[in-house]
Amino acid sequence: MQYSRIDEAINIMRKNDRGGFTIPTPRLYPFQWNWDSAFAALGFATFDRQRAWQELEMLFEGQWEDGMVPHIIFRRDDPDYFPGPSVWQTNSNPPSSGHSQPPVIASIMRLLVEDGAQFDHQKAEALFDRAFAFHRWWHEARDPDGTGLVAIVHPWESGRDNCPDWDLGMGNIDVDPQLEAYQRRDTSHIDASERPTELQYDRFLTIVKFGRDCGWDQHHIYRHGPFLAGDPGIQFILLRADRDLLQLARLFGKADQAAQLESWIERSVEGCNLLWNEACGGFCSKDLKTNTFTDSLTSASTLCFWASAGTTEQRAEVARQMRAMLENVRHGMPSWDPREGRFEPKRYWRGPVWAVINFMIASGLGELQLIDLADRIRADTLELVEQAGFYEYFNPETGDGLGGGDFTWTAAIYLTWAQGLEGSRAA
Ligand code: DGY
Repeated sequence: MQYSRIDEAINIMRKNDRGGFTIPTPRLYPFQWNWDSAFAALGFATFDRQRAWQELEMLFEGQWEDGMVPHIIFRRDDPDYFPGPSVWQTNSNPPSSGHSQPPVIASIMRLLVEDGAQFDHQKAEALFDRAFAFHRWWHEARDPDGTGLVAIVHPWESGRDNCPDWDLGMGNIDVDPQLEAYQRRDTSHIDASERPTELQYDRFLTIVKFGRDCGWDQHHIYRHGPFLAGDPGIQFILLRADRDLLQLARLFGKADQAAQLESWIERSVEGCNLLWNEACGGFCSKDLKTNTFTDSLTSASTLCFWASAGTTEQRAEVARQMRAMLENVRHGMPSWDPREGRFEPKRYWRGPVWAVINFMIASGLGELQLIDLADRIRADTLELVEQAGFYEYFNPETGDGLGGGDFTWTAAIYLTWAQGLEGSRAA
């Protein structure tokens, strides 16, 4: 595979640098996003280690006292984005949103350490306690009953905002009649056909209003909030990150934390079974308000490979389903099953291909020796970028670039593959 856009990728990352932290793309996303930023660190690591760690250090500057690393760190307001800090009103310093995003940070830290030198070891050791507190937050605030299944309280917390996975839970939300009038900004930057709908935004904001009205009491939000779902994406990403953090705990001689991580891992492995949907032959999201599965697989279902989750038989079945999904598109991995009715190849998380998801899927597949599938996902991603450029997401049927352009995490994944900075087998 030829990498003809390396300089362009580096330039995008530099251009999106706002002085130690990176925005995903100008105007559409003008702040620091949690998982975008962690992937940005991976991209920076291919050409500037110091800058890579600075990205993570600045991300942890937004960490709350309870350990949560919020999904957006605002630092300052920006009229290009809605909903900004005045809507969230979290009273945090720096200002931030009130829930989290997929916890990939520890996995990126481990990659940087294993691929790096003494410098990386020291930087990771200095951030270890913060990463550990973040994981504790996930296990306690998002699984207070210790079921082994962590939940999300807002579709934005999954990172897969408008995926059909959330249609059931979102459909049961009555839009708060007290919701203030608002003006979206995203659809003034991007074609509305590539973004969530108006009704989805009303519901997204109804959930935000609930959090704001209870002073961001995370326990109250989990128990009584308008939305609660189990998400294979979050479940697998946290399980993988727990394992990666365990490796770092052992490396740094942190015995107590290692023991705690081992027990979280054991519980989460059990919890994965709660997402196994026999009818679909895979891991599916579940609306936890009604205890109802979604009826289709997504690209997040295939993150079981990233976490090495499930039994050998379960993973073989997911691989079979994955091949069937891939037969129905030109470019994998579609974010929703193309065989299903609600598939929309242009609309955000309802069909398009995302480079960071592909990175995790392909790494996991490679580690599990499913080489043909790993190669397909990786080759498809690189072809999309080579042909269309560094877009936020891509049409799985036509290969067109969609959403924001000059996108940080797409550039980061391209550089990561170009430089061979890749995942190692989770313990
Ligand atoms: C957005 O504004 O679309 C973000 O994805 C929410 O985090």
